[in-house]
Amino acid sequence: MTLHVAVIGSGPAGIYTAEALVKQSSEPVAVDVIERLPTPYGLVRYGVAPDHTSIKSIANYLRKVLELPEVRFLGGVTLGRDVSVEDLLGLYDAVVYCTGAMVDRRLGIPGEDLPGSVAATDFVNWYCGHPDVDPGRFTLDTSEVAVIGVGNVAVDVVRMLAKAADELRPTDVPHEALQRLGESEVKAIHMVGRRGPEHAKFTLKELRELGELANADVCVRPDEAAVLGGDFPRQVQGNINVVREWAAREPVGRPRRLDVRFWLRPVEILGTERVEGLKLERTRLAEDGRVVGTGQFETLPVGMVLRSVGYQSVPLPGVPFSEKTMTVPNEAGRVRDREYVAGWLKRGPTGVIGTNKSDAAETVRTLLADLAGGARVGSGGLDTLLAERGVRPVGYDDWLAIEAAEAELARSLDRGERVKLVGLEAMLRAFRP
Ligand SMILES: Cc1cc2nc3c(=O)[nH]c(=O)nc-3n(C[C@H](O)[C@H](O)[C@H](O)COP(=O)(O)OP(=O)(O)OC[C@H]3O[C@@H](n4cnc5c(N)ncnc54)[C@H](O)[C@@H]3O)c2cc1C
Ligand SMILES: NC(=O)c1ccc[n+]([C@@H]2O[C@H](COP(=O)([O-])OP(=O)(O)OC[C@H]3O[C@@H](n4cnc5c(N)ncnc54)[C@H](OP(=O)(O)O)[C@@H]3O)[C@@H](O)[C@H]2O)c1
Repeated sequence: MTLHVAVIGSGPAGIYTAEALVKQSSEPVAVDVIERLPTPYGLVRYGVAPDHTSIKSIANYLRKVLELPEVRFLGGVTLGRDVSVEDLLGLYDAVVYCTGAMVDRRLGIPGEDLPGSVAATDFVNWYCGHPDVDPGRFTLDTSEVAVIGVGNVAVDVVRMLAKAADELRPTDVPHEALQRLGESEVKAIHMVGRRGPEHAKFTLKELRELGELANADVCVRPDEAAVLGGDFPRQVQGNINVVREWAAREPVGRPRRLDVRFWLRPVEILGTERVEGLKLERTRLAEDGRVVGTGQFETLPVGMVLRSVGYQSVPLPGVPFSEKTMTVPNEAGRVRDREYVAGWLKRGPTGVIGTNKSDAAETVRTLLADLAGGARVGSGGLDTLLAERGVRPVGYDDWLAIEAAEAELARSLDRGERVKLVGLEAMLRAFRP
């Protein structure tokens, strides 16, 4: 008999889970992919930077999974609001939670909540057109910005701030965000790491791109680029070499300047009504490897601070959650009887899109082994339950209509292949005129 599984979340983890479930040969499986947004692909749509079109094209692979006859997409349905864990366990043989990590980690320093102190999650959502963020949320009316963190998200955010609007015109950036990026007064961007180049989390390819920006000079102070000895893995040595090469460069008068800083930790975001500066303390590594302050301070005269220090999962109602690891405790993907987890919610907010494939495969192996030969709950029932609650899910064809409307919008604006529709209303109008 067919095994019926509900997968919650249609990001890479959810879709790779659906794929692994239906492509195995031990027993037939039908999967409902339940997603709170009207659109699939999670951070591939609302995280991957708009100018990284080749990475975004992974959506063409993910769409093939949603088009498999055994897989259904049900958008606009939120676990914890429209359906509960109890509902789902009554309707499906198993449930796999793949809801990712949607909020920012906090710095825990004074001034963090001042206007102008912004979580990278919000800024990324804004330029990606996420319906949770007002398209008018940001005005870049300051000449200096600090980006805290030296991971790949910080690199994305820096690139988006540094590029000229014309360079972003062919991308899917929402039109209002593009206009605001075009009006940006930003002249200097400071990217700040609390440790050295050898500890930075960015990857080599992404780092190199910053050195190739047409619109910004990249500067590094030789003393901060210095790395003492050590036998580093190839990627890390590559990062060190790039940073050293930048330290030897002279600015050539490009419109913007990117200062990449190391060994500085944020201690206070300054200002009364809004951000007026960022106070940093020089750091060093203690003998036990911890980052410690040296008591030497400097202040950057910035009007905006973008905090890019990592994402964080949020608990799902009725699902176990560890406040310590901010993940769902699991053993090889198993949470409890008939409940499973995959992706960032399972292992924390690290890893590239492909990492979620092997991660999902592990969860699916556990699920299939647990449920082999057992009784089956049967099928159906969700559509009736949603109809009773007045929830009309967004189907895969509805999503295709949203895509078509985005392509049409791009044509009408003489931009690239698509321009994001912003706001739930606009998306729903694409298929419920
Ligand atoms: C800004 C940013 C840029 C990135 N860029 C790249 C890149 O260029 N290349 C790369 O390889 N990796 C990149 N990554 C990493 C990659 O995006 C992640 O590894 C991957 O998206 C994690 O997959 P996931 O499915 O666990 O989470 P997500 O992609 O976040 O998917 C979770 C899904 O669950 C849905 N959801 C949440 N709550 C509920 C609920 N209660 N009910 C129903 N649905 C719900 C969400 O709407 C979302 O669609 C980036 C990450 C970030 C943050
Ligand atoms: N193009 C791509 O492939 C791409 C693009 C975007 C994201 N991603 C992936 O998505 C994942 C998440 O990326 P991310 O950049 O959000 O996270 P990340 O890689 O974990 O980087 C977080 C950065 O924040 C710093 N940080 C953390 N707490 C801090 C604090 N209190 N004060 C100062 N700095 C602090 C970290 O420094 P420490 O190291 O000192 O803690 C690190 O530099 C990563 O796996 C990334 O590779 C990939």
